Amino acid sequence: MMIKKVALVTGGNKGIGKEIVRGLYEAGVKVYLGARNLERGRVAAKEIAAEIEIIQQDITDEASIDTAYEAINKNEKCLDILVNNAAMNLGAAASSQVTVQEMRTVFETNVFSIVGMTNRFLPLLKKAEHANIVNLSSDVASLQLQKESADLPLSYPSSKTAVNALTVHYASEFKNSHLHFNMIAPGFVDTDFNGHRGTKTPQEGAAAPLKYALDFSDHAPNGVYASSEGVIPF
Ligand SMILES: NC(=O)c1ccc[n+]([C@@H]2O[C@H](COP(=O)([O-])OP(=O)(O)OC[C@H]3O[C@@H](n4cnc5c(N)ncnc54)[C@H](OP(=O)(O)O)[C@@H]3O)[C@@H](O)[C@H]2O)c1
Repeated sequence: MMIKKVALVTGGNKGIGKEIVRGLYEAGVKVYLGARNLERGRVAAKEIAAEIEIIQQDITDEASIDTAYEAINKNEKCLDILVNNAAMNLGAAASSQVTVQEMRTVFETNVFSIVGMTNRFLPLLKKAEHANIVNLSSDVASLQLQKESADLPLSYPSSKTAVNALTVHYASEFKNSHLHFNMIAPGFVDTDFNGHRGTKTPQEGAAAPLKYALDFSDHAPNGVYASSEGVIPF
């Protein structure tokens, strides 16, 4: 009997995360839907399938990450897929206007929490035969793009550049291992994140993250920055 892969998706209660949960479930994976609000998690899971497990998790709260880890560790032998999807986009201030508080808040959620989540779940990821860690990035993570776009705010794009940097560090530390770390840009997606200005559906946005989450081939990439159009140069 084939053993089911196990996945955890942060911020799985809406937007792209919810479609990643759906796609993993449809691919036969046992999915833990991470949601900081249990009720929102329950509502989302109900729309997908009764088998989806809901895990309460505020990714900026170490105690909450610990509790989620203990719950999954109690039930599972390993974690095969971790999708660090949850993030926030606060304000739109240019560098000269941004407050340190805005920078701290955005980096806390978008960057530091990925380190917190990844390091806490590493023992379970290491127990998998092959583990895929997908960090949600963005096209605006590109330094070249930031250099050329004077109207981009500072906090969110630079937080996604930091996501790419940390992903590369993990990929480098775990190269030649069974752990694969990639940073995937979903495109401009119609979600609450951008007031529904995005042009792709959440399902289309979930396609590239799903591709990397589900690649258990011998040649699965590590340290790649990519979108649904292919690999992006950093
Ligand atoms: N939409 C786009 O065009 C776009 C483009 C490039 C990259 N991305 C990236 O794609 C990912 C998903 O974005 P989205 O558009 O699907 O956004 P979304 O619809 O706003 O969903 C964000 C999710 O993150 C959760 N979240 C935020 N802070 C959290 C915290 N502290 N703890 C736990 N969960 C938290 C939210 O939970 P609540 O429901 O409780 O708030 C929600 O489930 C993000 O990493 C984003 O940067 C999006």
